Formats: sequence, structure tokens, C-alpha cells
Amino acid sequence: MIVGVPREIKEGENRVGLTPAGARGLTADGHQVLVETGAGEQSGLADDEYVAHGAEIVDSADEVFERADMLVKVKEPQPSEYDKLRADQVLFTYLHLASEPDVTRILLERNVAAVAYETVERPDGSLPLLTPMSEVAGKMATQVGAELLLAHRGGRGILMGGVPGVPPADVVILGCGMVGTNAAKLAAGMGAHVTILDINHDRLRYLAEVMHGNVITVYSDEHTIHRAAGYADLLIGAVLIAGARAPTLVTGDMVRDMKTRSVIMDVAVDQGGCVETIRPTTHAEPTYIVHDVVHYGVPNMPAGVPRTSTYALCNATIPYVRKIATLGLDRAAEEDGAICKGINVRNGEIVHPAVAKAFEAR
Ligand SMILES: NC(=O)c1ccc[n+]([C@@H]2O[C@H](COP(=O)([O-])OP(=O)(O)OC[C@H]3O[C@@H](n4cnc5c(N)ncnc54)[C@H](O)[C@@H]3O)[C@@H](O)[C@H]2O)c1
Repeated sequence: MIVGVPREIKEGENRVGLTPAGARGLTADGHQVLVETGAGEQSGLADDEYVAHGAEIVDSADEVFERADMLVKVKEPQPSEYDKLRADQVLFTYLHLASEPDVTRILLERNVAAVAYETVERPDGSLPLLTPMSEVAGKMATQVGAELLLAHRGGRGILMGGVPGVPPADVVILGCGMVGTNAAKLAAGMGAHVTILDINHDRLRYLAEVMHGNVITVYSDEHTIHRAAGYADLLIGAVLIAGARAPTLVTGDMVRDMKTRSVIMDVAVDQGGCVETIRPTTHAEPTYIVHDVVHYGVPNMPAGVPRTSTYALCNATIPYVRKIATLGLDRAAEEDGAICKGINVRNGEIVHPAVAKAFEAR
């Protein structure tokens, strides 16, 4: 198969769909790899490295789209890429089609075989191609939140770990899934007081077992959320209800009751956010103030650390890319149920039930 890797063109996106190591694996399997010149630059990956690992560098996205049997990307196709997609071409990338009706329509019209990273699902229900980005976003939430607590960044002017004789910051995390757990581990490591809330007893039990001392677990309900928000220096929103909009857990009134210049990082903003006063922001202008509380609502946090995120993503995607390239999409889907669940659009039809439901509802 010819595997093509175009440069990502979505605003603020700095990751790339394949590392040189991925190119090496594919060429060792007997495939050809085309990489658009400069595709890896923002992730610190030079054209030369791809060439050294067996890839061919091509000058334009047009050539990648025209020659590739399978496109390996990071984000959904952008309008200027729509016309370049070919019938039966396999497209393997994040798609989020439930909230992208225009992209869905184009994939149907152009008869693309679209496989979405976010719906590749193992039999135990885990989402192996979503997890690495949640790990990145969770750690970033604490790291960036600590920075936003600095006085010159608009925050309360408080050090996460405190110093002897002066208490540390209070970090409150809503949701102890992938994002929340990673945020909690980093915050605890920095010496903050961490409160983590969830409705899932198994998750709370796991966190209570693996974390010690400065992390407390609390069952999440309106009362406990209001109370914890009231003492938070840094509040991190990390809840998810699969396939649905995030629930509004922190109301505008609760935000009004928060400490002056405390910080809200709503990582769940990509699903609508769990804080009533949150709205999507960008890496260029990440924050704004409401009720004297700093709000951060960047929906594509991993793009801020492309050198980490590209490797984290590709470490997870490459085995699937190699399987699809070697067996072809149909046989790969027959042999691997996770790939089968990843297929969203095939032969001009929406084949993923949740995507079909969202599309019909529009
Ligand atoms: N902004 C970004 O760049 C970015 C990056 C990665 C993930 N995300 C988003 O972060 C969110 C969390 O992702 P995840 O991978 O950690 O999901 P996850 O499924 O691993 O964890 C979500 C947790 O939320 C809990 N939850 C549900 N309802 C709750 C409630 N009422 N109170 C408290 N907890 C509740 C669940 O029990 C679960 O433990 C998602 O919306 C995801 O899309 C955003």
C-alpha cells in the first residue's frame, strides 16, 4: 500500500500523523510512505529523518492525496482538502463526526473509507487512540494551571506546593478518568492539596488506593462540588459521559462563589464543558475572566506540546496503521474488532451507530 502523510493545516495544529519510526515499520513491511515536506517540522521531525527511515518526501499535499491508498493524519479534513479525497481511499485520523456534519457529508459523497481514531475500541471498552491525548491533556491541565496561578498571569499568586510554614494550593478535579487521574498525579507530585470527585466508586477506590496523603477522593454531587469549588485555587474539569455533551456541574453561581483570581481549566470544553461560564479559547488567547475567576478553555490542548503528543499518538496508532496497510481495511476489520469499531464511513454509508444517530438527528 502507499501510505500518505500530509502536513496538518487545521489552525493551531502542530502534530503530524506518523513518526520516522512509523515510516521505518511500514517500509519494512513492504509499503511505500509519502510525507509532505515540512509535515513533521512543528514536532521537531525533519524531512531528512523520514528519508533516513525509508519515506519519500513530496512537495505538495496534492501529490500525497493523489497517490496515497491510505492517508494517516491527526485532524479531520479541512475544506481545502475536501476535493482532494478519492473514492475508496482509507482515511485514518481523529474525525469527531458526531459534531462535524459537513465533514461527514463530504466523506459520504466522496466515498472515502473513514476510520476514526476516537472510535477504535477494544473489547473491554477502552479507547486506545484517545487515551494518550487524555494523558497529555491531564498533565497539561496541572502544569498550565500552575502557571496561570502566578500573579503576573492573572492568578491568585500562589505556589502549588507551598513552602514550610505556608500551605500549598488547593487543586479540585472533577472526574477521575484518564484526564483527572493524570492531573491529580502531577498536582500531588507538586505538593498541592488535591481533592478529586467522581460518581464512579471504582474510580474513586482506585485513586484512593494508588494516591496517598495529599489526595482525597469525594463522591461527586451538587453539594460536594459547590463546597470544593469554594475552596479551590485551581479547578480542573475532566468529566465525560461517553457520546454525550458534558454535564454542567459548576454553575455560574458556584463560579461567583469561588475565590478571587482562582483558575478554572475546563478540559471537557471539547464536549461543551462542565462549567457554565466556560467557552472555547485558543492557544494564542487561552484565558478570559468571569466573576473575577480566570477561565481556560482550549479544546485541543495536546497541540501545545507537539513533540510529546506526536510520539504519544503515533506510539498508539502505528500498530493499527501497519495492520490496515498489510491486510487491507476489510480483512484488518475482520481480524481486529477494535479496527472494525473504528470504521465510521464505508461505501457511501455511515456504519458507526453513534455517528449515524447524530447525523440523522440534524
Ligand atoms: N481539551 C482537550 O484538549 C482534551 C484532550 C483530551 C481529552 N479531553 C476531554 O476531557 C474529558 C475527560 O476525558 P477522559 O479521557 O478523562 O474521560 P474518562 O471517561 O476517562 O473519564 C471521565 C470521568 O468523568 C466521570 N464523571 C462522569 N460524570 C461525572 C460527574 N457528574 N461528576 C464527577 N465525575 C463524573 C466518569 O465517571 C469518569 O471517571 C472528555 O470530555 C475529553 O473529551 C479534552
